[in-house]
Amino acid sequence: MIDLNVQLNRLKLANPIMVASGTFGYAREMAAFVDFRGLGAIIPKTITPQPRLGNPPSRTVEVSSGLLNSIGLDNDGLDAFVAKHLDYLLSLETAIIANIAGKNTDEFVQMAERLGKYPQLAGLELNISCPNVSGGVDFGTDPELAAQVVARVRDASPLPVIAKLTPNVTDIVEIAEAAAEAGADAVSLVNTFQGMAIDWRRRKPILGNVIGGLSGPAIKPMALRIVWQVAQAVNVPIIGIGGIQSLDDVMEFIVAGATAVQIGTANFYNPGLANKLVDQLSEALQEQGCQCVGDLVGTLQVPTR
Ligand code: SIN
Repeated sequence: MIDLNVQLNRLKLANPIMVASGTFGYAREMAAFVDFRGLGAIIPKTITPQPRLGNPPSRTVEVSSGLLNSIGLDNDGLDAFVAKHLDYLLSLETAIIANIAGKNTDEFVQMAERLGKYPQLAGLELNISCPNVSGGVDFGTDPELAAQVVARVRDASPLPVIAKLTPNVTDIVEIAEAAAEAGADAVSLVNTFQGMAIDWRRRKPILGNVIGGLSGPAIKPMALRIVWQVAQAVNVPIIGIGGIQSLDDVMEFIVAGATAVQIGTANFYNPGLANKLVDQLSEALQEQGCQCVGDLVGTLQVPTR
């Protein structure tokens, strides 16, 4: 029997395959397609303290091998999340990790305090990396701010803390290092890469917000590179994200150094994928002679120069 459990400091998951925030709604939307009990964790759409209307349309566009979005953290706010979605989410037989974003550290702390009163939650993922709202990436581009928000959230709530980082920086290693030193149980790498799409005939940007975040298979090589670089430099469990759509993709992230992964854009066109990957992962680990996921984490062999 293969042991699919993974431990990311205080966060323990039944398997390493999670579904990423913003690609799975609040789970109800996916109930017809997914066996929630098979998932490592569900991360619902980012919650902010107050409701947000999000950015003007168009807010998504398909591009070569990827998806550009500029949603702008459209959500009904924390009160509505607690009133309308939390009971349902907590009734599902899988780990639920709430993804939160604030305009400043105090907002993150207030949300963490409130959600910390629900010990049935598996953890908090801090969205310090949204490229589509003003100030959204500030925490994720400055190591001091990243450390401050992680440390204060950790103090404010008993729940495990994951910092979701942006790739839109010169050196993501220093941000991951700061988050880890401040007490992050794990870092999720990476949120979307800034990009744009243009309708040249109309001389207009396609996204209402002009610039958006690119996800999907187009970003996988860059996300893999980042996971590997951070894994070499920082002693913190990594959750790999970026264009995963097959078991080979999952294995590549794990070998690069990820202890777990999130399936994102692929949920939109293949909502049953995460369930399938869990089954395939078991078989593949067995074939590789592994007893558990940890046997494969960070096993990439790089030629010495
Ligand atoms: C959005 O709502 O704009 C996307 C979320 C994110 O990139 O963090």
